[in-house]
Amino acid sequence: MKYSYRIMKKVFIKDFSKYVGDTVTIQGWMFNKRSGKNIHFLQVRDGSGVTQAVVYQPSVDDAVFANAEKLTIESSITVSGEVTAHPKQEGVYELQVKTIEIIQLVSEEYPIAKKEHGPDFLLENRHLWLRSGKQRAIQVVRNTIINGIYEYLNQNGFIKIDAPILTPNACEGTTELFEMEYFDEGKAYLSQSGQLYIEAAIFSVGRCFDFGPVFRAEKSKTRRHLTEFWMMDAEAAFVEHEENMKIQEGLVVHVVKKVLAENMEDLIMLERDVEPLKKIEAPFIRKTHAEAVKELQEMGSDIKADDDLGGDDETILTKKYDKPIFVEKYPAKVKAFYMKPDPQDPTRVLCADLLAPEGYGEIFGGSQREDDYDALLKKIEEHNLPKESFSWYLDLRKFGSVPHSGFGIGLERLTGWICGTQHIRETIPFPRLINRIYP
Ligand code: 4AD
Ligand code: MG
Repeated sequence: MKYSYRIMKKVFIKDFSKYVGDTVTIQGWMFNKRSGKNIHFLQVRDGSGVTQAVVYQPSVDDAVFANAEKLTIESSITVSGEVTAHPKQEGVYELQVKTIEIIQLVSEEYPIAKKEHGPDFLLENRHLWLRSGKQRAIQVVRNTIINGIYEYLNQNGFIKIDAPILTPNACEGTTELFEMEYFDEGKAYLSQSGQLYIEAAIFSVGRCFDFGPVFRAEKSKTRRHLTEFWMMDAEAAFVEHEENMKIQEGLVVHVVKKVLAENMEDLIMLERDVEPLKKIEAPFIRKTHAEAVKELQEMGSDIKADDDLGGDDETILTKKYDKPIFVEKYPAKVKAFYMKPDPQDPTRVLCADLLAPEGYGEIFGGSQREDDYDALLKKIEEHNLPKESFSWYLDLRKFGSVPHSGFGIGLERLTGWICGTQHIRETIPFPRLINRIYP
């Protein structure tokens, strides 16, 4: 007899608790199998979860048992059976199989076996590696983080304004730009951050944010750098440096709480110690750049008073703390042109980098923006930036200029910290690194 899944109740594995005693159909992939004399235990995943499907010979006909017998790893299947509660483990459900339809029987050996693989092999097979339990868990957490960011910002009066990707000017450093010829218009660049554009939009909507891919042609080969990553920039009119940090604190607390509430199983799959995450509460630690430098020097760093914090500095500093740290008021010369000088010390700017604890380092960068036309023009000139392409940005300081501030979140850095992954390349589905564009 040929069964068709179309006539049975199709459900997702994550919802099994609602169907105990019912006969249902699931569709997915077989990722493992254990077999006995007249029994097969199929580990089936359907994207929503994983279950054990039990194929027991006396309760299925020979054809179904034969199908179970020949199933290979990653074969796609439609399975029907009765949902039962696990006799010993609470909250665990199984499927007592009645029928199996094979959608595709995999004939090749699946390249990603159960054994350990090196990072190069895994990255080369990223399109398959994504299916593994940990990689799936990271993507699920990433999705919650994205939703959490939208939620928090919407609740706080920020609306989403999409910034362009093709731009005529640099936003951050000019040395990190991906450049291209743009028809008869000369050079265009892939956006490094939507910030400048959402600065324009605050004069329309007051508070806004963008969220999209950004690009940095940085020749950095570290666990923290990608050439393409996802950034959320937020910007708010009438918000100064202090309040800017408060908004960021609130956002981090909201996102971490949401992940803890919704993704505990995924964090367990990732072997993430959740105790440090449970301690994330406002207010965060604050240090000026000068204080951070002094502390780092005492810990043995060779950082100088006017230096930016290096990756290693961020690692050792944040290993000391179990809360995020705002490092404020960097020397103007190590930061972007648009930051407003600190009135108490104009060699420094009203900025803050937010460093995640446990050795993670920078996850957000933000600042109050220069809102004075002449001061901004001077900065553009000092940074040797082409004045013509910033003429629109300067206009914003001519027509109703206001104090305003904002910040940018590196989604992969935030995801990496929350998931506890060593390298951020695992937090983006298809990482782009200076030596990798495949797959
Ligand atoms: O600190 P950044 O360069 O700041 C800006 O781009 C501002 N325009 C943001 C703003 O104020 N609206 O970048 C922001 C964040 C960093 O804190 C970091 O988390 C992440 O983006 N980031 C990177 N993530 C992965 N790979 C890279 N190469 C990154 N560079 C920055
Ligand atoms: Mg930064």
